[in-house]
Amino acid sequence: MIPVAKPFIAEEEVEEVIKVLRSGFIAQGPQVADFEEKFANYVGTKHAVAVSSGTTALHLSLLLAGVASGDEVITTPFSFAATGNCALYVGARPVFSDIDPKTYNLNPEKIDDAITERTKAILPVHLYGQPAEMDRINEIAREHELLVIEDAAQAHGAMYNNKMAGSLGDMACFSFYPTKNMTTSEGGMITTDNSEMADLARILRAHGEKERYEHVVLGYNFRMTDIAAAIGRVQLKRLPELNQKRIENAKYLSEHIKNIYGISVPYVSPKVLHVYHQYTLRVADGRRDQLMEKLNQNGIGTGIHYPKPIYAQKLYQDLGYQNHCLEAERASSEVLSIPVHPLLTVEELEKIVITLKEASEQIF
Ligand SMILES: Cc1ncc(COP(=O)(O)O)c(C=O)c1O
Repeated sequence: MIPVAKPFIAEEEVEEVIKVLRSGFIAQGPQVADFEEKFANYVGTKHAVAVSSGTTALHLSLLLAGVASGDEVITTPFSFAATGNCALYVGARPVFSDIDPKTYNLNPEKIDDAITERTKAILPVHLYGQPAEMDRINEIAREHELLVIEDAAQAHGAMYNNKMAGSLGDMACFSFYPTKNMTTSEGGMITTDNSEMADLARILRAHGEKERYEHVVLGYNFRMTDIAAAIGRVQLKRLPELNQKRIENAKYLSEHIKNIYGISVPYVSPKVLHVYHQYTLRVADGRRDQLMEKLNQNGIGTGIHYPKPIYAQKLYQDLGYQNHCLEAERASSEVLSIPVHPLLTVEELEKIVITLKEASEQIF
């Protein structure tokens, strides 16, 4: 089976982890501090604060933004559940606004309709590794005095108007889950230029401790370990090369797939550098599941990102959500991610293209 995602872990990561294990210092320590400094340099923000996952990064960022009970956060329904759940963690309400059907990202033209006097923040996701339309989103946020928090969980190294994802809003959240463009096993990062928020993030991730056993606010244990950070430091060095490979694989796929009947290749906005966390096709005429089956039968792994909008999940239905975002719903039934990861061989890429051609002839 050609898997739809495959983490690239090499000898250097293994050696660095062994060094940390042998050092006896395995909780948050010097590796985390160094990883944070290097990550902030890479993204181009003043600060980077490492945490235990992308989810805890999102949770913490909403606490930093002062979002609390009764507040609203505008976000996309077409994302992983954590994007909505983080608002629920702080007692706020995620308000789902529809997507642009070409990029699958928040449609800025729809955001105004979702703003109320309770809105505190906009949380755009850079889905599949393609940054959202940040100029318009920042403009709307400024007009209404809202904070912008990027969910950059899928966009390490992506760019918008030559600026790095993670430096495009007030704060940004990254995930280092194993399927992401770089990993620490589990892990996350908040990036920001705001020194006060970064200081508070460091306090909140460690039980609200300002000094040892001096708890000034209610905090959490959201720390990253030095074991995870040791992997992250090596992965960050590799990231440009791994992203380049994803981009080349995507280029090959798009060139060879674009004329296959019934299948649309990803649209890329001219303003962005897309880093293809996922390479996601759109399949016409309700044939997505048939195509998926054919690919799977022929040893090609696939993914559906995502099979339903967040508000359609049972959790949200039980909370009384009655949204209907038409583009998100249409995308949920038509998208199909195929392998694009950096470990794909030329033969595997060729096999994917040939199988898609044959499958299209059979099912359309
Ligand atoms: C868009 C998005 N947001 C948030 C997360 C949560 O990150 P994590 O799995 O590291 O908690 C993920 C990925 O898993 C994601 O894809």
